[in-house]
Amino acid sequence: MAHPLRTWLLATLAAHVFGEYVNEAADPLFLQVALETRGRAAHDLVLMHIPYNFGHTIEEVAFAGSGSLDTFSYALGVVEGPLSLLSKQERLADAMQPNGELWGRLRPNLHVKSEVTGCPIYFTPPKYWPPALAEAYFGNKTVFGMLRDPYERLVAQFRGNYADYGGNFPEFYETCDVDGAVKSMMQTYLSGDKYAEGCTYVPQAEYFDPPYGITLAVDNLHFPDSANKVFLDHGYSNLRIATQDILHVDGCNEVWAGDLSCETKALVRKVYARDFELICKYFGRCDENANTCLELVPTMCPSNLTAKKATATYCA
Ligand SMILES: *[C@@H]1O[C@H](CO)[C@@H](O)[C@H](O)[C@H]1NC(C)=O
Ligand SMILES: *[C@@H]1O[C@H](CO)[C@@H](O)[C@H](O)[C@H]1NC(C)=O
Repeated sequence: MAHPLRTWLLATLAAHVFGEYVNEAADPLFLQVALETRGRAAHDLVLMHIPYNFGHTIEEVAFAGSGSLDTFSYALGVVEGPLSLLSKQERLADAMQPNGELWGRLRPNLHVKSEVTGCPIYFTPPKYWPPALAEAYFGNKTVFGMLRDPYERLVAQFRGNYADYGGNFPEFYETCDVDGAVKSMMQTYLSGDKYAEGCTYVPQAEYFDPPYGITLAVDNLHFPDSANKVFLDHGYSNLRIATQDILHVDGCNEVWAGDLSCETKALVRKVYARDFELICKYFGRCDENANTCLELVPTMCPSNLTAKKATATYCA
């Protein structure tokens, strides 16, 4: 089974760090300043990367532009590699597109582990960040983030099947038993393991809590169009996500939110009550029982949605 996202994530850990991109002649101090100031005057956004909400795709295109997955893989290899902070910044400055942005996981100093969650800071809700780090990253910028339907997001986590990022579930994945897997995820969370699997079960609402929480919610249902519109509105003419840029899950392609049982959906509503409230508040979709899938992202809807809708659970 193909796992492009997994292949890519693993590749970045080892590849490129001491590779051919190194520019020994570069002046570290000059580059550091360039990195800190590039494009700041015109651009006022900063990304809060909620796990499993297309944050990697946004980081990729903000850093390197559309069609630049190789450059992003290289950059991620640099930030996750063993170099000093200064050397990392130097290499990132060299590889970044003009007026690019270093958001979320691409910020070398956000890779420390949170004492509260045990996850890296870049996946931790802002309210738990060390204040100095939060001030340096968010400052007085507009904090934006994707907001995703909880059922649909959990289906994606199951389909991703990554150990330590959303969880892997061999016993359920074998038969594409999305309901069994999501029920087990919710039981894990409700048993008190709130920061399991790289904080991927943390309710999105926690990333909206002050201080420094998300104030600009972008509708994941219409990704990437919704994000591209926000970027255009905020002057990021060089940030436009094309379909082929999107890093998405693959595998068990025919399962979707409509396959979750009413019992499982009740657990999801219990854990993510505030997420449903935010979707209602920001996007005006207030039916907590609706089944959705992402029509603008490849493989994120069953191949025959009409047929799947006919047999879907609806648990009002
Ligand atoms: C807030 O942002 C503006 C520019 O957008 C800047 O001039 C100002 O110094 C910033 N204030 C703080 C406290 O960082
Ligand atoms: C999709 O399913 C519907 C209902 O079962 C069926 O009528 C239709 O022919 C299917 N479409 C395709 C392209 O298979």
